[in-house]
Amino acid sequence: MSDGAARAVAVGEEPIEDIELDLLLEGLVRRDGLDFRGYARQSLRRRVWNMVHSQRLGSISALQEKVLHDPPMMEELLQHLSVNTTTMFRDPSFFEAFRQKVVPHLFSAPFVRIWHAGCSTGEEVYSLAILLTEAGLYERSRIYATDMNASVVERAKSGIFPLEHMREYTANYQRAGGKAAFSDYYTANYDHAIFKTSLRKNIVFAQHNLVSDGTFNEFNVILCRNVLIYFGTDLQARVYRLLHQSLRRFGTLALGRGETLRHTVIENEYDELDIQERLYRRRA
Ligand SMILES: C[S@@+](CC[C@H](N)C(=O)[O-])C[C@H]1O[C@@H](n2cnc3c(N)ncnc32)[C@H](O)[C@@H]1O
Repeated sequence: MSDGAARAVAVGEEPIEDIELDLLLEGLVRRDGLDFRGYARQSLRRRVWNMVHSQRLGSISALQEKVLHDPPMMEELLQHLSVNTTTMFRDPSFFEAFRQKVVPHLFSAPFVRIWHAGCSTGEEVYSLAILLTEAGLYERSRIYATDMNASVVERAKSGIFPLEHMREYTANYQRAGGKAAFSDYYTANYDHAIFKTSLRKNIVFAQHNLVSDGTFNEFNVILCRNVLIYFGTDLQARVYRLLHQSLRRFGTLALGRGETLRHTVIENEYDELDIQERLYRRRA
């Protein structure tokens, strides 16, 4: 089964593991409002089993029992199910392309609204804030950074990242065409890098779930990178529609390397701005 679409299996023939997984996901919705039922099935199953093993349990049903009766376990499961991997200036050539192909269009807008949907712990958001600062656009920009996972949104808000990653991020920044010394943007404090507060003065951090929440503004740019790969086909279609409704005419949509607008419900509404970097421009 590749996604959360309805499965037609005769009574008694469905693998027990599939039934257990459905019941766990149903329990999550009813207990916590978190809906993973439309996520790509294979990777979801793998992450659920990771949690089963890390708790030294024998089955998904045993995990369900724990999750429903022990609230911290619910939180632990959410952390297993929402993949939060991210880095600053991830895919440096994407940021270089953004600087060259998107920034010039933004100069004609009196005010620039940007949405990072699925921002995780914020590394991508601070990267864009730096890019906009260097382009002279930050002062008239407002960045909305959202994720369904409240704890990663809190970490993003803090602007504090492990110092040990700064060497890698500096290299990414330089490859992305960064114009200053990367260390100008943070202060090292023991094993942490604390990013300048001026970088986050125009950023609004909030919890938003792409499965269940609607559009909340109209944006010049939407970045939804490395989020839709975790969704099944039907959920992807819903989210593509939501992103489309939230994007202004001639606005830019940025996806992750493993994602594409090809063969999606909104494919015909967009031109390719840079196909390699998954940058698309909405038509009139
Ligand atoms: C792999 S991270 C991508 C972070 C960043 N965009 C990047 O490319 O580096 C995926 C993020 O999507 C978030 N996510 C997953 N499902 C979501 C949903 N239904 N609504 C909002 N965010 C979601 C996860 O919590 C996670 O933080």
